Amino acid sequence: MKCIGVLTSGGDAPGMNAALRSVTRTAIFNGLKVKAIYRGYKGLITGEIVPFETQNVSNIIQQGGTIIKTARCPEFHTLEGRKQAYENLVKEGIDGLVVIGGDGTFTGARIFSQEYNIPVIGIPGTIDNDLYGTDYTLGYDTALNTIIQAVDKIRDTASSHERLFLIEVMGRDAGFLALNAAIASGAEAAIIPEIATEVDQLEQLIQHGFRKSKNSSIVLVSESDVTGGALAIADRLKCKGYDPRVTILGHIQRGGSPSALDRILASRMGVAAVDALLDEQRSVMIGIVNNEITYIPFTKAIKSEKPVDKYLFDVLKLLSI
Ligand code: F6P
Repeated sequence: MKCIGVLTSGGDAPGMNAALRSVTRTAIFNGLKVKAIYRGYKGLITGEIVPFETQNVSNIIQQGGTIIKTARCPEFHTLEGRKQAYENLVKEGIDGLVVIGGDGTFTGARIFSQEYNIPVIGIPGTIDNDLYGTDYTLGYDTALNTIIQAVDKIRDTASSHERLFLIEVMGRDAGFLALNAAIASGAEAAIIPEIATEVDQLEQLIQHGFRKSKNSSIVLVSESDVTGGALAIADRLKCKGYDPRVTILGHIQRGGSPSALDRILASRMGVAAVDALLDEQRSVMIGIVNNEITYIPFTKAIKSEKPVDKYLFDVLKLLSI
């Protein structure tokens, strides 16, 4: 292996820049050339490929987003698109790839790697934490911290007005952000796609809190078709005579300087990704399990369900009395 390409793809996540820095510097340390591919798979198809030296990744460890940009790329789902991408790799002399992103990124990577026999290593970068085979994905910890800062602020107004607030958080189809942010912010409940909560149950929880002289309630709701999101829950509660306020945190959750945990994770995963290429591994995602680096085949990372820890749901319930 002489030259590796690196790209970020899908939704950006805090820590992607720290991972890019780590991949670039580890590769250069090992005598490899590095080329950054801008705008994810889109840039691979259009040939937006730039040689990177160590100084290209100076002063980025603390920056949110991704300096090499990202995109969602439907063209990469086509044979034609991937053929063009491969031709650009050959033209640039790239013989291994590191892709930083989520399940969509790894789905593309797995097919591409098989079709063209090119080694691809994945680094999990998504605030959703929804990838099997890793305890944490890059950006998840930072997003959790962003959420609890917002909830702390909402609590001030909730308690002043003695109101019920429903706060919707991201996560796509996974409840990790909602459940853990609910525990960390002392919320009354979390509504997540993995555990069905009927409005009657939610009502009981809220009533219970009020009876115990709590004068306000905060409920975190995962976005998703299963929960219907905070607005749908609010409508159902309104029918029962409540007057909830809704806050949808939205893309604020994706931004900001990465936490220490995300920076360290990104640095470790970047080193592990280059090591994996040098060890002739292919089609694996780097994971972290019990604080140890692991390598998990793309097929498993994408296709296996990552369960939420139901015990955390009980902890939340117990502490919200
Ligand atoms: O996967 C990260 C994520 O932020 C999800 O939580 C969310 O559902 C989605 O991306 C939003 O995507 P977009 O920024 O493309 O609207």
